[in-house]
Amino acid sequence: MSFAAITGVGAYLPGRIVTNDDLAATVDTSDEWIRTRTGIRERRIVAADETTSDLGAGAARAALLDAGLEPDDIDLLVVGTSSPDMVMPSTACLLQGKLGLTCAAFDVMAACTSFIFALQAAASAIESGRARRVLVVGADALTRLIDFSDRRTCVLFGDGAGAFVLEASEEQGVLGIDLGSDGTKPEVLQVPAGGSTMPASHETVDAGLHFLQMNGQEVFKFAVRAIPATTKKALAASGLALDDLTWLIPHQANQRILDTVADRLKLPHERVFSNIELLGNTSAASIPLAVNDLYTSGSLRRGDVLALVGFGAGLTWGAAIVRWTKEDL
Ligand code: UT7
Repeated sequence: MSFAAITGVGAYLPGRIVTNDDLAATVDTSDEWIRTRTGIRERRIVAADETTSDLGAGAARAALLDAGLEPDDIDLLVVGTSSPDMVMPSTACLLQGKLGLTCAAFDVMAACTSFIFALQAAASAIESGRARRVLVVGADALTRLIDFSDRRTCVLFGDGAGAFVLEASEEQGVLGIDLGSDGTKPEVLQVPAGGSTMPASHETVDAGLHFLQMNGQEVFKFAVRAIPATTKKALAASGLALDDLTWLIPHQANQRILDTVADRLKLPHERVFSNIELLGNTSAASIPLAVNDLYTSGSLRRGDVLALVGFGAGLTWGAAIVRWTKEDL
């Protein structure tokens, strides 16, 4: 059996920065409230003519360059997103066309956990011998699904994309993965209309049902339970313990969630990565964007052990334990 290892990492962020003060100019909120309740100062927002697949293409090109590969070298593309360019075709197909890939391409939709589910699909394809080089992209333009007059949600989200190249390797890069879903609570975080339940109509648009709706407190309580539990399960599946972790890299949704998780796992806060201040919650992109930040800042060393941990709508959650096998920058 081959192992899967990360050989390329890339990121792409839209150029437009929106600060808390910018939002406070149009909705009843304040920089102080947003910073103290979430840790967010600013976020990036897609341009009017930019789509999720454009963000993903930027990140994918950077990851290919980092891995030293050409589009033709890739034999599978998996895209994690919950803000697809359109209902069909898949964002992965649109991205495949933009990159000039010729391989099979499909989307994975698990909300903010999409990247971990996509990573599982990619690693499994390599481990089973069905693929040798897989491009995994987490891309979201969730601000396209946000009601910018709703202060409970509009301050939280930002847009972006991150990507990994995974290759068959004699070194085990992807160690254990734990995934979970609980489909009994869809109402906690959902976009009610636009699917087969409530097709688009004047009424659904007038009622704002195409916007993201969230019970923030329920998601918060779920996140601070799910992140420690799935991290421990994935570590156990890898034959490792919390002490072996170099970095815990959770989905970036709220600094208070990250702090609570660090306390519950008794991890020093400086080992729990955070870049939420500058990016907000970028959904499926947040984990590969976090890894890219650590990588490009020279903070990752060969042999480091990373826990990549997601949670989100569904409900879904998951953790992947990764040994960093790239040479030091
Ligand atoms: O990818 C997964 C996605 N989501 C999450 O992970 C979200 C997890 N949850 C959270 O991060 C937090 O629950 C929020 C940041 C969403 C909200 O923070 P909170 O401390 O749970 O606030 P709250 O919902 O209990 O609201 C407290 C007060 C309310 O006012 P009243 O009823 O006490 O008068 C809200 O109306 O804060 C008010 N509020 C705001 N005030 C100013 C809610 N949003 C804002 C806002 N600015 N943006």
